[in-house]
Amino acid sequence: MLRIAVLVSGGGTNLQALLDAKARGEIPHGEFVRVIASRPDAYALTRAASAGIEGVVISRKSFADLAAYDAAILASLQECGAQLVVLAGFLSILGPTVIHAYRDRIINIHPALIPSFCGKGYYGLRVHEAALERGVKVTGATVHLVNEIPDGGRILMQKAVEVKDGDTPEILQRRVMEQAEWLLLPRAVEEQCALWETRLQTSDGR
Ligand code: GAR
Repeated sequence: MLRIAVLVSGGGTNLQALLDAKARGEIPHGEFVRVIASRPDAYALTRAASAGIEGVVISRKSFADLAAYDAAILASLQECGAQLVVLAGFLSILGPTVIHAYRDRIINIHPALIPSFCGKGYYGLRVHEAALERGVKVTGATVHLVNEIPDGGRILMQKAVEVKDGDTPEILQRRVMEQAEWLLLPRAVEEQCALWETRLQTSDGR
């Protein structure tokens, strides 16, 4: 089983979807070992505690620069023996040290159909505000690998969701979560765990 760390910043409904999927036996190749929150008030920490998973807080504000923050996150990931990293509503910036150390082993969920409404500045409710402003009729969610380009890594899964007349950003956000995010993320995590379990079993890791 692959050891998984989940990075969060807020409510943690995607984390909950992962924990529920695990409890239903849908992630047989992975186990959740640590939740790292970028804010001490993240409700995701309560969800982690309820599931008996260790939660730690690593706030960007506590570090002088991105390099120091990046190093602290890497140290925490290594300390818990994480082999796969999932960004589940992690709204802080992940630095190059972590990205390099976990090349192709960091998964992110984005609440739009990349390449629409993604990249710098597009996170959380802002993504749905932008989609409604542009007047798209279809949006959705994307699970992708993380590289140095914000929302620029290889796409693993996408699911489309209808935009309806009268939608507010909050209503649309909820529909995208229910119809896409909470379904895709557990599936993508299991898929990557199974893949990496095989890869890591070979001596050279390839
Ligand atoms: C989710 O919609 C997630 O896709 C989004 O933040 C929300 C977190 O909700 N992530 C991004 O916008 C990343 N660019 P949650 O804390 O309830 O999972």
